[in-house]
Amino acid sequence: MSDFEAEDLRKRSLSSDNTLEGMIDAQLSRRGFLVGAGAVAATAAATSMVTFGVPTEAQAATGFTAVAETTADTVTVPPGYSFQTLLPWGDSLFEGDAAWGTGAGEVNAGNMTADEQERRIGFNHDMLALFANPFGAPASANGQSHSAYIAVFNHEYTTGSDMFPGYSATTARRNTVDVELAAHGITVAGIRLEGDTWVHDKGMRVGDTPDGALVARRITGTTRFLVDGPAKDDPRLSGPVAGTLNNCAGGFTPWGTYLSAEENFNQYFANASSLPAGTTKDNYRILGMTNGASQRRWEKYHSRFDLAKMPNEGFKFGWIVEVDPFDPTRRPVKHTAIGRFKHECATVVVQYPEGQTKGKVVLYSGDDERFDYVYKFVTDGTFDSANPRAKGHFSLLSSGTLYAAKLNADGTGEWLPLTHANLESKAAGAFADQADICLRTREAGDVVGATPMDRPEDVEAPHTPGTFAGTGKVFVVCTNNSNRGGSANRPTGTVRSGAADAANPRTNNRTGHIVQITENGNDHTSTTFTWQFYLLAGDPKAASGAVGDVKGTFFGDRFGSPDNITFDNRGLLWIATDGTPNSYPCNDQVLCTEVAGNGKVRVKRFLVGPYGCEICGPLFSPDNTTFFCNIQHPGEDGQPSSFPNGQKRPTMVAVRRTDGGIIGN
Ligand code: FEO
Ligand code: CA
Repeated sequence: MSDFEAEDLRKRSLSSDNTLEGMIDAQLSRRGFLVGAGAVAATAAATSMVTFGVPTEAQAATGFTAVAETTADTVTVPPGYSFQTLLPWGDSLFEGDAAWGTGAGEVNAGNMTADEQERRIGFNHDMLALFANPFGAPASANGQSHSAYIAVFNHEYTTGSDMFPGYSATTARRNTVDVELAAHGITVAGIRLEGDTWVHDKGMRVGDTPDGALVARRITGTTRFLVDGPAKDDPRLSGPVAGTLNNCAGGFTPWGTYLSAEENFNQYFANASSLPAGTTKDNYRILGMTNGASQRRWEKYHSRFDLAKMPNEGFKFGWIVEVDPFDPTRRPVKHTAIGRFKHECATVVVQYPEGQTKGKVVLYSGDDERFDYVYKFVTDGTFDSANPRAKGHFSLLSSGTLYAAKLNADGTGEWLPLTHANLESKAAGAFADQADICLRTREAGDVVGATPMDRPEDVEAPHTPGTFAGTGKVFVVCTNNSNRGGSANRPTGTVRSGAADAANPRTNNRTGHIVQITENGNDHTSTTFTWQFYLLAGDPKAASGAVGDVKGTFFGDRFGSPDNITFDNRGLLWIATDGTPNSYPCNDQVLCTEVAGNGKVRVKRFLVGPYGCEICGPLFSPDNTTFFCNIQHPGEDGQPSSFPNGQKRPTMVAVRRTDGGIIGN
């Protein structure tokens, strides 16, 4: 008897629709899909870039040997696979610069200046996107795999104690603070596959031709930004908008730009208590701004981080930012139309009307806080797939409708518009105008009655490369919520109950879950949808499915705290975790999932990261022969790690089969 058959029998014998477990089973049993692979296959034919298969139970799509749980301080991959590291923190982006090291003339954390860090890869890599260079180059031509890519990745935050010898926030000198500011932001770098090895190509130029602009570029905590959208002229955003901070996940667009999500920006600001009572103080409290000194004490050297001196500076963060890796002269932009909160991601699909090549762009984002919301943004304008680099595409994200998700107990759902007209109808006078809604988006979500989720992190929608045509399926990854069933951690507005509900069914949700949304009519612009669980994370072999327990609702390898997900070119969903060690004796990991022929999800551990790390930015090369991810904060906060080479350095990792074959086959 297979695992699947055994579990079917167990479920039948335990079936009870009136229990919470019965309710979860009911949500699971409506799955009946394979990560949208069939729908992707239909649109994929248009580009011939990828093909999608439909694995059955008898013919599993994943042929690798699962990796065992481990706390080893390295990257562990299946037999027949190997990994390499590239683009670690501190490596210079430019030819001729000094090497990283402690030898004579070399640069290291002990002697680095902010100017040096501005030329070097930042700290704590997070979301990765790869852009074929030149733009739109096919994944393979004449049987040769395309090999030149612009890698764009962001740097979530700095941890001084893991960077600088003898670091203390209270005694840190100005140079240390400025190095940290320069280690934030985004890195743009050329990479090239040579044989079986990915190499950092410091001399790569846009278009991969000698006369193109140099690809290598840093955007940091001080880079000047443009602002667009409804709030661009709001007085709270007046003055220079300098830098981007706490960039977590993000996204990428069919016009060849990188989107980065500003997440826990609250941690950089001090003295929120100095503000007078009012909407600004309320908003800062809701976002978790610090009342006294900030944790990093940057306000000592930079008054913009002191809210007592510059009370509006906190409004300049919490946005989705857009960077064009193909044009270094195009200034990066913060898009106010997509709202301001702790953005985790910015996943883009295009909704083409039947038979048309122009369609509205739809962007999904999560607000990663306990009891916060899932959002989507639908542009007013359309993307023209026949002319992807058209000038007009670079302003598409400046105008549209922002929605927050409501997930009903019966498996239906609604996208609630965060328009001024709708807000006025529910709470007249609560928001001055659309700009005010964009600036205080969480409060707008409270008013319309969006569903507070268990830390919605990544929100991903499988789509066809090139056209970005979606399938109507959207996956919402809820990492965990230790307060579910306890007191809400955001005691304001209408959100006060932290009780378990249909979409967040576990009290003390330690291990997280993944919700699958199907847009009505598979139309990503729809305002209604249905939803069900893709899986509830945990241990499928745990003894009990009782409330508060961590029994996984799948078959295979246990895990906790799913964070970022990606899809391979067969449409299979892969999960990277941030917090598995809180539940199981295993470092954070990457797992492959598939829906077998009988509708059951099967989970298989593919990779385990080094000690004390988080795995970020999972991504496949277009031909699916390399799996990339970023190792963020190995050995964080003094945990024992010497990854990758004797010193803790956040780094990118590339995993390939030793025979160069398709990952996971
Ligand atoms: Fe930065 Fe929500 O992870
Ligand atoms: Ca994350």
